[in-house]
Order: sequence, then structure tokens, then C-alpha cells
Amino acid sequence: QSDVSGDLANILLTEEQLGSKLDELAAKIDADYAGKDLLLVGVLKGAVMVMADLARRLHHPVQMDWMAVSSYGSGTKSSGVVRILKDLDADLTGRNVLIVEDIIDSGLTLSWLVANLRSRGPESVEIATMLRKPDAAKVEVDVRYVGFDIPNEFVVGFGLDYAEKYRNLPFVGTLAPHVYS
Ligand code: PRP
Ligand code: MN
Ligand code: MG
Repeated sequence: QSDVSGDLANILLTEEQLGSKLDELAAKIDADYAGKDLLLVGVLKGAVMVMADLARRLHHPVQMDWMAVSSYGSGTKSSGVVRILKDLDADLTGRNVLIVEDIIDSGLTLSWLVANLRSRGPESVEIATMLRKPDAAKVEVDVRYVGFDIPNEFVVGFGLDYAEKYRNLPFVGTLAPHVYS
């Protein structure tokens, strides 16, 4: 339990690669929202690392808020039917909202979330995600800021979990099959 290195098949993205990409994304976001209000909305729990590391790279003054959602469904995969476990504290009327996510897998969570937040009268709703799995997409989601497109493999770290473990790894790794088989 104390050393997870045996649970990993390989490192997909190093801490340095993640950091450089976050520098790039933060520069784009700073430029795009110059002179505008900006509310970052993190999706618990996976987005915690991206939120913290991205927000600290922004020069733009932002506010941060959080949502927790749970998708109904049998098993591990999203069904597209989403339940709000913790709603935002902020009123979105007239706000520029940037949803911050760790990963877009099927896209079902985010497509529901974008529609939900758009119905609250914001000025804009965009998405920033560190990772995206194009081969796993079940719905197309229009994403403004993407860190890395990755293969459809079981990845953990930098916020991503398997059974609530591995979120605190500072890099993104692929899980060895013996862990989940
Ligand atoms: C994961 C991930 C995304 C979502 C993506 O969250 O953090 O939020 O799944 O999946 P989708 O594109 O197929 O909808 P999860 O539901 O595992 O909760 P967590 O963030 O607490 O780990
Ligand atoms: Mn999540
Ligand atoms: Mg998870």
C-alpha cells in the first residue's frame, strides 16, 4: 500500500510534461479572458489537482467553485444520467464559467454538466480538461482547452483514481492489469 510502483504499467505523462502543458493552458486562458470576469468550476474529486495547479498559474483574478456529481449506472461507466451531490455556491447569472476537469472519457458527465450550467443564465460556459480519450467518446463535447489526447487505457494519478486510490500521484500512469483484473 505504501509503494504503488508495482501497480503501474508505465508512466504516460511525467510531472514535467503536465506542468509545461499547464503553463500553456494558463497562458491561453489568461489571454482569452483578459478584462473579463472568470469563475472556475471544478468537478470533484478528480479535478482537484488540475484546478489547484492551473489556478496558480493564472495571472487573471478568478473565483473558484466546486460541484460533485455522480452518474447513475451499473458499474464503473457513466450512464449520462447525472445526480448533483454538491451544487455550486455561486449564482451563474452573467458569469463567464470555465469548467475544469481531469479527464473526458465517454463525455457523458460533461455534456450533461454543460447543459445544466448553460440553463442557469451564464454569459459563457467553456471547458478545460487535462486529458481526453478520443476513442472512448460516446458524445461529442466542445472543449476549448485540452491538455493531452490519450489512448483508451486505464490511467491514474494527477487526480484520477481507481477505487479512490492513486489520485495523489504527481504524474499520470497506466494501471497494470493485475490491479483490476
Ligand atoms: C471521472 C472523471 C470525470 C468523469 C469522466 O470522474 O474525473 O469527471 O469520470 O467520465 P465520462 O467522460 O465518461 O463522463 P468520476 O465519476 O470517476 O468521479 P471522481 O472525479 O470523483 O473520480
Ligand atoms: Mn470526476
Ligand atoms: Mg473516478
